[in-house]
Amino acid sequence: NGKPSESSSRFMAQDCTDRGLIKFSRQSQASRIAMQIAAISFDKFNALADQEAQERIRAARARLGKRAVILCHHYQRADVFRHADLTGDSLKLSRLASQSDAEFIVFCGVHFMAEVADILSRPEQVSILPDLAAGCSMADMASLAKVERAWRELSAVLDPDEQVTPVTYINSAADLKAFCGEHGGIVCTSSNAPKILEWAFARRAKVLFFPDQHLGRWSGYKMGIPMEEMVIWNPDLELGGLTQAQIAQARIILWHGYCSVHQMFQPAQIERFRAQYPDGKVISHPEAPFEVCKASDAVGSTEKIITTVKESAAGTRWLVGTELNLVDRLADEVKHEGKIVQFMGGVICMCSTMQRIDPQHLAWTLENLAEGKVVNRIAVPPHEAAPAKIALERMLAAS
Ligand code: 13P
Ligand code: SF4
Repeated sequence: NGKPSESSSRFMAQDCTDRGLIKFSRQSQASRIAMQIAAISFDKFNALADQEAQERIRAARARLGKRAVILCHHYQRADVFRHADLTGDSLKLSRLASQSDAEFIVFCGVHFMAEVADILSRPEQVSILPDLAAGCSMADMASLAKVERAWRELSAVLDPDEQVTPVTYINSAADLKAFCGEHGGIVCTSSNAPKILEWAFARRAKVLFFPDQHLGRWSGYKMGIPMEEMVIWNPDLELGGLTQAQIAQARIILWHGYCSVHQMFQPAQIERFRAQYPDGKVISHPEAPFEVCKASDAVGSTEKIITTVKESAAGTRWLVGTELNLVDRLADEVKHEGKIVQFMGGVICMCSTMQRIDPQHLAWTLENLAEGKVVNRIAVPPHEAAPAKIALERMLAAS
C-alpha cells in the first residue's frame, strides 16, 4: 500500500520501541520533524497504579479526539476493553480498520490484527500495537520459510499453482497473507472459513490450509468433506509426513498448528455440563478441537458467540468454549436476563498475549500520540503489504 518500511514489520516495530523514537517515511515532512522527538519512555508508566493509568488513558484520549480510534478484540481484558471505540471479531475489526478515517488506529489485540489494520488502511494512517509482545502463538506455528518449503515439496507430487489454493487463517503473519496473494490464494477468519473454502474449491481441487488445523477441519466437515480427505501436514517432516497417495487423495491439507488456549477444551467438559444441566446450551469457537465443536450446539467466531448468547431466550444456561475474558464479560452482560454463562475450561484459559495489552501500555501509547510521538507502529513493508492486501480483499469480497 505504499507505506514506508526498511525491513520486516516485526523489525520495524521493534526498532521503534528500542530506540524510543518514531521512524517514519523519508518522504514525509511531518515525519522528518517527528523523527527528532524522543518518545516518552515506558519506564514512567510501568509502575503506574491501575486507577491512575485509567485516568491518564481518558485524559490522553480526550486530547486526541477523532485523531485516534481504539479498536478492541473481544479477548481484551476489562480494564482495556472499556476504552474501546469499536469492538469485534477479526473479520469485523478488519472491516472497521479499512473504513476508519482516524490518523492513528490503536489496536488492542494481537500483532497480526495490527498488521491487517495497517495493510487495509490508507498510507497516511498509522497502526499501533500498545505492547509489541502481544503476538499469537498459533500464528507463529507457520512461517513463510516452512510454507514455501511445503509448496516446493508438494510440487514433487503435483502442480500446486494449478491444483492447490493456499488459504491462510487471518491469525498469521503478513508475509503468509502475501504468499496467498501471490499464489492465487485467500485469507479467512473464524466467521467466514466455510465460505472462503467454497471460493478456494471453485478455483482449484485442493486446499492447503494454515496455520489452524482445527478451523480448517471443522470448516471442511461443515462443507461435507469426508475426514479421510483431510490430512495433516507436519512441517517438520519430509513431505509433511504424508505419502504421495495421501496427498493425491486429500482435498484439504491441514497445517499442524493450533491455538494453545482453545486446545484445552475437552468433550468431557461438555458431557459433565449436559449431565448436570440437560436443558443447557453449548457454544464453542472453531479453534477448539473437532470433538468439542461436534459436541456443541453451535460453533462460531467470538462475535457470533456473543450475539448468539445475547439473542437467546431469557433464562438460558450456556457453556462457552472460548477465552476467559470474553466469557466473563458476556456472563456479566446477560445476567440481568437470568441467563447463566459458564466457562468451559477446567483450568484458566486466557490468551496470555492478548492480556499483554494493559492500561499502562495503553496510557503510554496514547500519551505519546497526544504529544505528537508515535510508538509501537506496525508497518508492513510494501512488498508484503501489496500481495497481502490482494488476499485480504479477496476475502472481504467473498464474505
Ligand atoms: P475471532 O475472529 O473469532 O475473534 O477469533 C480470533 C482469535 O484469535 C480467536 O482465538
Ligand atoms: Fe492466538 Fe489463540 Fe490468542 Fe487467539 S486465543 S490470539 S489464536 S493464541
